[in-house]
Amino acid sequence: MLNTNNNTTNVGYIDMHCHIIPHVDDGAKNSSQALSMMTQAYNSGFRAMIATPHYEVGRYEANKEEIEKNFNKIKSMVEQEIPGFKIYLGNEIFFSYGVVDKLNEGEINTLAGSNYVLVEFSPNDSFSYIKKSLYEIINAGYTPVLAHTERYEEVMESEIKNVEKLVDAGVLIQINSSTLAGNMGIGIRRKVIKLIKNDLIHFISTDCHSDGRRSPDLTECIRYLQKKTDEETINRLLRDNALKVINNEDID
Ligand SMILES: [Fe+2]
Repeated sequence: MLNTNNNTTNVGYIDMHCHIIPHVDDGAKNSSQALSMMTQAYNSGFRAMIATPHYEVGRYEANKEEIEKNFNKIKSMVEQEIPGFKIYLGNEIFFSYGVVDKLNEGEINTLAGSNYVLVEFSPNDSFSYIKKSLYEIINAGYTPVLAHTERYEEVMESEIKNVEKLVDAGVLIQINSSTLAGNMGIGIRRKVIKLIKNDLIHFISTDCHSDGRRSPDLTECIRYLQKKTDEETINRLLRDNALKVINNEDID
């Protein structure tokens, strides 16, 4: 069992985008890697995660039962091994025709049973396609969270304008912590900070896939955020808004 008594980073961050369920996508390879990832997350200050396995037609289509079975397995493991660390279930949905029907039928998951859904696209999908698709989700009564927004070339090329249009339409914006650690280069990182300063980012999440290269370690991301923003912003992006998702409350 992880010794949770003398940890000094008891800040209670919530990771809203991560791939910790084994055998359902390209995330955790097995239960022991999942546990190692959750331990790293705990040591970075997280106290909860929403597991978001990929759902992509023709690529990742693990069915609901399989996902739930593997999720419940790691859930009981984490309850035993890391007391005080909670996990919830969701999906990262690669947008395609028919995903709204799948959501309505309960075949794919919203985030932690809320009205929020995590949606991704291809990096080179056009801004107009991304916007139109997200509108479709809004019109169906859900609140879309755009996964790793910094990856979409046309969304980002206008500096803040396109992101602003999405936010005005009711879309919430998620950024990966690794981008703030500098993994996509300093140009993108600078744009992300500009978006944060313009109040256009709602979540920073890890999108972790393993305990190695794509781990949930936050050290570098936090170091950079402390330099560029303030404690209140860090807590809002890494904790408060994700807690509102879990509680299905409005986010402004
Ligand atoms: Fe992801």
